[in-house]
Amino acid sequence: MLIQKPKGTFDILPEEANQRQHIEKKIRKILSNYNYDEICTPTFEKTSLFKRSIGEETDVVSKEMYSFNDDEFTLRPEMTAPVVRAYLENSMYNEFPVQKLFYFTNMFRHERPQAGRYREFYQYGVEVIGSNDYTVDAEVIALGLQVLKEFGIRDIVTKINNIGTLQERELFINDLKKYLTKYLKVLSLDSQRRFEKNPLRILDSKEPTDIEILENAPVLYEYLSEETKEFFTNLIELLKEMRIRFEVDYKLVRGFDYYTSTTFEVISDELGSQNAIFGGGRYDMLVEQLGGKPTPAIGFACGIERLMIVLNKSKYQYPQKERLKLYLVSIGEKARRFAIKTAIELRKKNFKCGTDLLVRSVKSQMKEANRLNAEYVIVIGSEELESNEARLKRMSDGIEIDVMVNKINELDYNID
Ligand code: HAM
Repeated sequence: MLIQKPKGTFDILPEEANQRQHIEKKIRKILSNYNYDEICTPTFEKTSLFKRSIGEETDVVSKEMYSFNDDEFTLRPEMTAPVVRAYLENSMYNEFPVQKLFYFTNMFRHERPQAGRYREFYQYGVEVIGSNDYTVDAEVIALGLQVLKEFGIRDIVTKINNIGTLQERELFINDLKKYLTKYLKVLSLDSQRRFEKNPLRILDSKEPTDIEILENAPVLYEYLSEETKEFFTNLIELLKEMRIRFEVDYKLVRGFDYYTSTTFEVISDELGSQNAIFGGGRYDMLVEQLGGKPTPAIGFACGIERLMIVLNKSKYQYPQKERLKLYLVSIGEKARRFAIKTAIELRKKNFKCGTDLLVRSVKSQMKEANRLNAEYVIVIGSEELESNEARLKRMSDGIEIDVMVNKINELDYNID
């Protein structure tokens, strides 16, 4: 029996690999325009890093981590904590007061697989560490939205909230629990479990009964300080000036403990139940929590597979694969040896070329040249080798010119 890939993972075959490369190239260009620099961290980290930052009671840490070596290490379920760890470990705060970092890599979460939700998936994301100015919040949101716009994605909803500081949330959580106590038995099982361990997350529930109950629950925004509210108002005004369309959603709390202040999420109806394309927020306490000086920060991450689902639904036109410049058809062993040597010479000169690797007939080789969309073809047999004369054929119109066999690797492949 064939061994199959683990559940919730996927193979990326060449056609899709090309599409992903196109996506990555386009996103990297935008990130470079915004002046972000790439950061790479190990695929696994000490488990304690994620426990301390994401929070032990969150779904990701309590149920979804791939941990090994007696729980010492964990495959990264996200990149914010590793980036902050690397920022501190490498004293990056000494280089620039504000670090604008991005990553483009794979994550691992032991979730229940479904459309748009995998156990290994890819994210691109940004983390800006060192500024608490609301213009940074506007910049990262604008960046995330620009990426979608450049791929022609328009049908999206941007949700924004401010969840305040830990202190501001404390009183709210108290009041929320008081309010929910009388509904405890009718709340969904998930929400009942969260009631003790992570009550804030109940606000995120998608269960219709929970949503109904929450309609009259205390509103977190009302518990925020004047300072926090002013920060939020400034951000909202700036986003409006930038002509960014968004909705304020006071229930948007997101799933990790490190979030403070601004949170945001961009959703698409094309995605079904896993509808978030990207999401993020401020984490102004995390650097300090991981042993650094108090340092504000903000970031987001975008799921590449979810982006691709939306692109496929909108029939996004990926660029065609780069075509072969030349296919060398060979007849006989001598010609085959000549063809492969010449192809390698030409490749060194930056031409994309192909040869037959299956000792096929001329007809099959021509078919292959067509399949590969070769721009030019040269047929080489013993006659051509002996006379040092061959024909260079342009496939688009069949025009042929004479070429010298020993000069094939010196041509510029441009019949005019
Ligand atoms: P997150 O909301 O967990 O945030 O993930 C960000 C995005 O990754 C989601 O919106 C979704 O597109 C994609 N994603 C998440 N889980 C899966 C999955 N199982 N399969 C496929 N795609 C998935 C974070 O990861 C935070 N680190 C974002 C952040 C950066 N916050 C501040 N800085």
